[in-house]
Amino acid sequence: MNPSTVALVTGANKGIGFEIARQLGEQNIEVLLGARDPERGNAAALQLRNEGLNVDFFHLDLEDPATIHSAAERIQSAYGRLDILVNNAGILNDRGLLPSELTEAALRQNFEINFFGPWLLTSALLPLLKASEHPRIVNQSSILASLTSIGKMDGWITPGYTAAKTALNAMTVLFAKELKHGKVNSAHPGYVETDMTGPDAPLTPAQGAATAVWLATLEADGPTGGFFNEKKPLAW
Ligand SMILES: NC(=O)c1ccc[n+]([C@@H]2O[C@H](COP(=O)([O-])OP(=O)(O)OC[C@H]3O[C@@H](n4cnc5c(N)ncnc54)[C@H](OP(=O)(O)O)[C@@H]3O)[C@@H](O)[C@H]2O)c1
Repeated sequence: MNPSTVALVTGANKGIGFEIARQLGEQNIEVLLGARDPERGNAAALQLRNEGLNVDFFHLDLEDPATIHSAAERIQSAYGRLDILVNNAGILNDRGLLPSELTEAALRQNFEINFFGPWLLTSALLPLLKASEHPRIVNQSSILASLTSIGKMDGWITPGYTAAKTALNAMTVLFAKELKHGKVNSAHPGYVETDMTGPDAPLTPAQGAATAVWLATLEADGPTGGFFNEKKPLAW
């Protein structure tokens, strides 16, 4: 990868996002580490800089459009383009609830962070991505957004999360059509041990980062407008 490649990763202060930031940094990519909390974001960026990586904290709260616009302005004035956007930040606030048990507030918050935030951020950054020679967008989705899979799954029910991540998958297909010279894909990281899941999950965040990192660094003949886990396509 070209050493001047610039990548923005959202929700990168911990979990899978932090590992995506680290693995992109290890490929000599300049990483803009997005986080909603400046203290946690600065601490994470400092940790990666101490590992010798080129990482800078960017304040990005997907529920606060002002942070989206100031991040876009800062990237415009510092770089004039963006090569990689990883929409990784997300929440899961409805595990085990039936659709009829979900409160309106929880449903709206799911859509705010898992769908509207990534859509608004991607739209704000699209002129910068269009200015890149090889732009890549990765939307961190979930197998729980595969309509083909969830009907057959027992045990996991996350109605608002599933609906919002399904909308995020629609966004992947739509932005892939708009960003014609780039690659726009959805990733499922696997079942990964983070604050979102807990100790039963079998994969480490470093293992979970691999699919998004692969999609963020796809070669010119790579896929676009798809949904992947471990380099294999998933059914929508
Ligand atoms: N873990 C899994 O097995 C799994 C499976 C499928 C998909 N995923 C997806 O992978 C992504 C990362 O999840 P994770 O497991 O690493 O979870 P995590 O450890 O809980 O990390 C979530 C990240 O999103 C950030 N975030 C939450 N709300 C935000 C907001 N309003 N604005 C900006 N950032 C916000 C969090 O920031 P704070 O630290 O400030 O809260 C944190 O950095 C999510 O999109 C998730 O849906 C995970």
